[in-house]
Amino acid sequence: MFMNTPRLTRNAHAARASVSKAGIPDPAFHPSLPGFATTPLRPAPKAAQRLGVRSLLVKDESQRLGMPSFKILGASWATYRTVMAHLGQPVGAEPTLDTLREAVAASGSDLTLVAATDGNHGRAVARMARLLHLSAIIIVPGGTVDSRIDAITGEGAEVRIVNGGYDEAIAAGAALGDDKHVVISDTSWQGYTDTPGWVIDGYSTMLTEIVDEIEAGHIPEPTVVAVQMGVGAFAASVTRQLASRPARLLVGVEPTRADCIIRSAEAGRITTIPEPQDSIMAGLNCGTPSIVAWEDVLAGYDVFVTVTDEDARDAMRLLHDDGIDAGESGAAGLAGLLAHAGSLSLGPQDDVLIFLTEGVTDPVAYRDIISTSN
Ligand SMILES: Cc1ncc(COP(=O)(O)O)c(C=O)c1O
Repeated sequence: MFMNTPRLTRNAHAARASVSKAGIPDPAFHPSLPGFATTPLRPAPKAAQRLGVRSLLVKDESQRLGMPSFKILGASWATYRTVMAHLGQPVGAEPTLDTLREAVAASGSDLTLVAATDGNHGRAVARMARLLHLSAIIIVPGGTVDSRIDAITGEGAEVRIVNGGYDEAIAAGAALGDDKHVVISDTSWQGYTDTPGWVIDGYSTMLTEIVDEIEAGHIPEPTVVAVQMGVGAFAASVTRQLASRPARLLVGVEPTRADCIIRSAEAGRITTIPEPQDSIMAGLNCGTPSIVAWEDVLAGYDVFVTVTDEDARDAMRLLHDDGIDAGESGAAGLAGLLAHAGSLSLGPQDDVLIFLTEGVTDPVAYRDIISTSN
């Protein structure tokens, strides 16, 4: 039954010590992409004050490799590994964009990259296709807003809209895979696990940047970390690097209208929830957890919470007050903490870390949300 009330589930399956160690991309790879730079960790004092915590840091992925979201980290590494494997090539001693370009050119193959997306992943795959001089077909759920579609076509990709939600888009993308069409999916299913595994590995570059800052003593060791979840690939990447660190709480956050992970955790097994998944947090509108992410997400989070669209708007406005422009999915981690601060016992002993996984990707909605006061 669908509930629009935010809820909190203490994870009966939490076993952080059993979470796998992160797979990481070759350190040469991401720096070989145009515009690579470490993204900032930004303080959000007003949000910290609202939560009543000592500090709140925001890992700001709103400008990552020229894209408004972190997703290019996973899409790029997965494209490298998948296309090299498709061409029958080894990973290579120094995996860089040029190595991949040369392999593609030498093969003479006329490949098309295919991805299904709520927006950000497909845009990132389209960017990779452009960098490699390949075509791309990107499949989006019905109802995807024009600005997100325009951003994908702006990368030179063909966009196909399915009559259905994210799961239908995934199925349509999977059906296109053949010798000439290489599917780069950020979620997995039986028989298709390598590429989404490399997506998770690619995200770990972001976590390595954070861990380096903690270990250098530049930022406090977080006591509470909130992570927004769609299919759980990003959440798996986070917990693979942070589960063994001292944080007292790793918190997984989902929209009330797309709570497939919390429901799967309650059932103790992967569960597909009924459609529609129609929260404004479009990147999180997923119906089924990714099987390659699932075990580490189930073991790696102490608490799962859900948030309403209004909680997300509230978090966006609060981040705006701190000078940070967040997209709906990007603000979801903070929304989870705001909605459940009491039950999570947040207090002045806490140093909090959240992830701005996306900047503004729907500018029309953003203006409306920001101009409405709390
Ligand atoms: C902005 C943003 N944040 C978070 C996520 C969640 O990532 P995952 O689907 O790996 O759980 C997504 C997924 O598309 C996203 O676009």
